Amino acid sequence: MPSAAPEVAHNALEAHERLLPHERLLIDQAIAKHGTRPGALLGILEDVQAANVHKFLSMETLRYIADATGLPPARIYSAATFFALFNLEPQGEHVVCVCRGTACHTRGSRDLLEKLCLDLGLSDREHDENSEADKLALTTADRRFTVRTVACFGQCALAPVVEVDHHILSHVNERTLQREVKTLTQGRK
Ligand code: FES
Repeated sequence: MPSAAPEVAHNALEAHERLLPHERLLIDQAIAKHGTRPGALLGILEDVQAANVHKFLSMETLRYIADATGLPPARIYSAATFFALFNLEPQGEHVVCVCRGTACHTRGSRDLLEKLCLDLGLSDREHDENSEADKLALTTADRRFTVRTVACFGQCALAPVVEVDHHILSHVNERTLQREVKTLTQGRK
C-alpha cells in the first residue's frame, strides 16, 4: 500500500475553496451516511466517486474528506490508490476494461488491447512487451473513452474477457469488440 501522499498535504482551506458547494454537500452526505464505523472510509470514497460526473476522486476531494473526517490524509490517499475501483483521474464517458490475465492473454487479449487503442487513437507505447500492461489506464482527449486493463475478472473460462461499461463480454474477438465500440461511438448505448 502506498505510504506517501505528498499531494494530499493537508490544506483544508484550499480544498474547501476549490470544491463547489454541491460537491462539498455530496461529500458531507456520504460521510454522514457512513459515519465512523469500520470500513466507513471505503464506503465514503465509493459514494463520492459514484456521484462525480467523471467518476474520479480529485486531490481536493481527498483533502476535504481528510478534514471532514479527521482521518490522516495519507490514510485516505493510501485507500484511494490501493483499491483498483478508485480513480484519481477523470474517466471517460465509456470505460472499456480488457483482461490481461494469463487465460485471456493466451487467447489474444494483447491483440485486442492494441487494436482497441489503435481504433481510439490512444498511444500504444504503454503496452509494449516490457511494460506493465496490467496497469494501463488511458483516456481519449475528448473523454469519451477510458481504456483500462485488469489482472483477472475471475471468469477465465470465458476468456478473453472484456468489460464495457460494467457489462462483461465473453470470448471476445476483434470484430465483436470493434462493433461494441462503434455502437458506443455512435451513441446508441
Ligand atoms: S485471466 Fe481473464 S478472466 Fe481470468
